[in-house]
Amino acid sequence: MIATRLHPDKQSAAQAVAREIAGLIEIRSKSGKATVLGLATGSTPLPLYAELIRLHRESGLSFRSVITFNLDEYEGLGADHPQSYRRFMEEHLFRHLDIPAANIHIPDGLTKDAAGHCAAYEAAIRDAGGLDLQILGIGRTGHIGFNEPPSSCETRTRWVHLDEVTRRDNSVFFGDLNQVPHGALTMGVATILEARRIELLAFGEAKADIVARAIKETPSDGCPATWLQRHPACTFHLDAGAAQAL
Ligand code: GLP
Repeated sequence: MIATRLHPDKQSAAQAVAREIAGLIEIRSKSGKATVLGLATGSTPLPLYAELIRLHRESGLSFRSVITFNLDEYEGLGADHPQSYRRFMEEHLFRHLDIPAANIHIPDGLTKDAAGHCAAYEAAIRDAGGLDLQILGIGRTGHIGFNEPPSSCETRTRWVHLDEVTRRDNSVFFGDLNQVPHGALTMGVATILEARRIELLAFGEAKADIVARAIKETPSDGCPATWLQRHPACTFHLDAGAAQAL
């Protein structure tokens, strides 16, 4: 069952989710526990990251006890590539916070051993105690992370082939479709579903159809976001545009 929360605009949605994350960090750090966050890239979480940075600067929210695992990374792109998700996260979040570098995990797009690297990524999430809260966006193909259709609910962190729709959507960031990688490493659907809480953000009319499908269609490999219906604590944070087909 997916809960939906309609917000007046993306800033309000970002503030609500940032407050929730801040509350979680404060409660857990009081009892000496780390907070394990699953993080997403794309344009959607940007206002959320801006709000977390504001809370750190203006309200003293500390990220010293936070451990992060990003959902995915493009194949072949390293930290020095402007479109790598490693670079994206550094620029839009990590460099503005007090999070220790050792607490940050992002799949390595340059790995020569994808299977071994992905198995180690799963083990690192388990060793950290599992994801307390996962942030998600949604792709127009119904992907979460880079779990393109078809993706079963049993998939784990692995190498995936990117859908052409996704490559075209993301080509705006690369400037040229030919520069967009054909593959990626992504947490699996099962990995995501094991997070104790999931907050998905979707804004704008372009996401309305896929949001409605994710919520209403019978869960299937053909629309991986439908697997979120199986999660006990998943909320979709929407603006009016993204909610208009519900
Ligand atoms: C990208 C990411 C996803 C993201 C999605 C939507 O391809 N791998 O994690 O949710 O596409 O992107 P945007 O937020 O820019 O619409």
